[in-house]
Amino acid sequence: AKLAVFLSGGGSNFRALHAATLQNAIYGDVVVVVSDRPGCKGCEYAQEHKIPILSYPKNKYAQDGISASQLVDSLRHSGVDYILLAGYLKMLPTELVQVFPRAILNIHPALLPSFGGKGFYGMKVHEAVIRSGARYSGATVHFVDEEYDSGPILAQRVVPVLAYDSPLDLAARVLKQEHILYTEAVAALCEDRIFWREDGVPLIRKSW
Ligand code: GRF
Repeated sequence: AKLAVFLSGGGSNFRALHAATLQNAIYGDVVVVVSDRPGCKGCEYAQEHKIPILSYPKNKYAQDGISASQLVDSLRHSGVDYILLAGYLKMLPTELVQVFPRAILNIHPALLPSFGGKGFYGMKVHEAVIRSGARYSGATVHFVDEEYDSGPILAQRVVPVLAYDSPLDLAARVLKQEHILYTEAVAALCEDRIFWREDGVPLIRKSW
């Protein structure tokens, strides 16, 4: 399968996914990266690996940013099958979500549906989890619809919240699990191992 990865920052999930494609743990290729911060660390990695980068949307860091319809056209022309959001902080354009039904995944650093939605990004998520007194957090991979963090949940991994965790401690513990979880979920997607329960919940079968 042909994969597009959207990112805005460090890109550790992107690197984990890319490494998995090289090792055939994921049957797919990252054919393009899309970013609103074309100078970010994740984009540096893309450049080193000769993966083309599209800037979207246009902003002060991305003067060469393309329009939503150019983005959709370009992804279609490159034959992209699946879109993987990996720390992409901008909302997706409606037309993109409509053109890729059940084909866009996101990873969130908490156990949705808690601690998600607008305003819950980066360290704010982990601060909120610690403040709440929850004893467990984790990572969630979900399909993307037109709102933040609200599409059908595909897979989760749990980590403990320890008594004196700082947000950074918790973020690091969650991030390690994110890499494992996202790789498993994308592997399933590329192998057609996801099926949909009648009520709209997606399930992963472990093997064929
Ligand atoms: C991750 O915590 C992910 O869950 C969230 O943004 C962060 C991206 O980290 N959506 P990285 O850029 O993949 O290292």
